[in-house]
Amino acid sequence: MKTNIVFFCAAVVAFCFAAIRREPSAHPSATLTAVADSIDKETGLALDPNFMIVKAQCTSCHSPKLILQHRFTRDEWLSKIRWMQRNHKLWDLGESEKTVLDYLAKHYAPSQSAYSRREALRNVKWYKLEK
Ligand code: HEC
Repeated sequence: MKTNIVFFCAAVVAFCFAAIRREPSAHPSATLTAVADSIDKETGLALDPNFMIVKAQCTSCHSPKLILQHRFTRDEWLSKIRWMQRNHKLWDLGESEKTVLDYLAKHYAPSQSAYSRREALRNVKWYKLEK
């Protein structure tokens, strides 16, 4: 009888420990904070060592949302910069042009999955539509 009670208590304690230990990883806010930490709260731009330069060069004329809305390759970002320089009085970025391009190409490049087409169909058996 005594051993039964001891086993029962041990089982309860073990169950409680298991429940407590599972709690943190199952909690959704743990992953949300990790994501929020890498995004600047004010601009929504990705945080990395080049962020401040990009913020200074790219957010004084328009909302950073114009950047966030687009996905370009490095060359395409460069041609956007040239386009703004030709038409919208964007200044010569000088030394920081490379830094800005590094940042844009790293964080705002086209994602393969979003842009790629589905795989071509194989072994298609065509049939004639009947009238
Ligand atoms: C001197 C002002 C100015 C600065 C600084 C500036 N832009 Fe722009 N940008 C503009 C104007 C004006 C537009 C056109 C806005 C519109 O169409 O409403 C524009 C449009 C854009 C667009 C949208 C392009 C499109 O195809 O619609 C992107 C992306 C962009 N800018 C990114 C940047 C980046 C990255 C930087 C930093 C290198 C930057 N901008 C700095 C003036 C500026």
